[in-house]
Amino acid sequence: MKRDVIIACDFPGKEATLAFLDLFPSGEKPFVKIGMELFYACGPEIVREIKARGHRIFLDLKLHDIPNTVRKAMTVLSALDVDMVNVHAAGTKAMMQAALEGLIRPDGSRPLLIAVTQLTSTSEAVMQDELLIGAGIGETIVRYARNAREAGLDGVVCSPLEAGIVKEACGKEFLTVTPGIRFSDSSADDQVRITTPARAREIGSDFIVVGRPVTAAPDPLAAYKRCIEEFV
Ligand code: C5P
Repeated sequence: MKRDVIIACDFPGKEATLAFLDLFPSGEKPFVKIGMELFYACGPEIVREIKARGHRIFLDLKLHDIPNTVRKAMTVLSALDVDMVNVHAAGTKAMMQAALEGLIRPDGSRPLLIAVTQLTSTSEAVMQDELLIGAGIGETIVRYARNAREAGLDGVVCSPLEAGIVKEACGKEFLTVTPGIRFSDSSADDQVRITTPARAREIGSDFIVVGRPVTAAPDPLAAYKRCIEEFV
C-alpha cells in the first residue's frame, strides 16, 4: 500500500469544511478523514459531496455494536463509496468479521477496514482499574491488533510510536493508520504521544492522520505539502 497523508477535517459543519477544501487547487485532492462531529451534523450528504469533489474519504465513525447491527450499518456506509472505515476491536472478532462482510459491495469491492485498539486517550491505569483489563497497554494493543488481523481486517489505528510493534506482531502488510503527528516546530496541542511525519515514516506508518498542523496552519496547502514531502 502506498503511504499517504490523511487530513482530519474536524470542522463543525459543511460550510467550514468546503471552505477548507477550496484552498486546494483542482489538481490536489487530499485523502480526508470525516469524523463523528461532521457526519452527525451534516449526514451522508457531506460524504457524497466531498466524494464528488474527487477526494478519498476515511469515514471515522468507530462502530461498536452487536455483529448483526454492525454488518447492516457497514453495508449502508460502504454504499457511500468511502475508501476507509473503522470499528472498535473491543467489539470482538465476530463483530469485526460481520463488519467486513457488510462492507462488500455488489461488484465485490469494499473500503479498507481498520480497527481501533485502545484509544490513545485511555491510560494503562484507567484500562486496568476502570475497565478491568489486567494486561499492560502494549500487550493489549498487540492482542487487539492480532484479533483484527485474524478477523480479516486490513489494519489498525494506533499511535505512530506503536506502529513498529504492530507490524512486528501482524506483518508488514497489516496497515497502521496513525494520528498524533506534529512537525518538529509545531505545538503539541492536547496530543501527548506525538511524532513528526518523517519519524512516523521511519517507524512504519502507512497513513498519517494530520489535523490541526494542517487545518489551523496559516497556509494549509503549504503545511499539507510539507507532510507529503516528509512522509511519502
Ligand atoms: O488535530 P490533530 O492532528 O490532533 O487531529 C488528530 C485526529 O485524529 C483527530 O481527528 C482525532 O480525533 C483523531 N484521533 C486521534 N487519536 C486517536 C484516534 C483518533 O488523535 N487515537
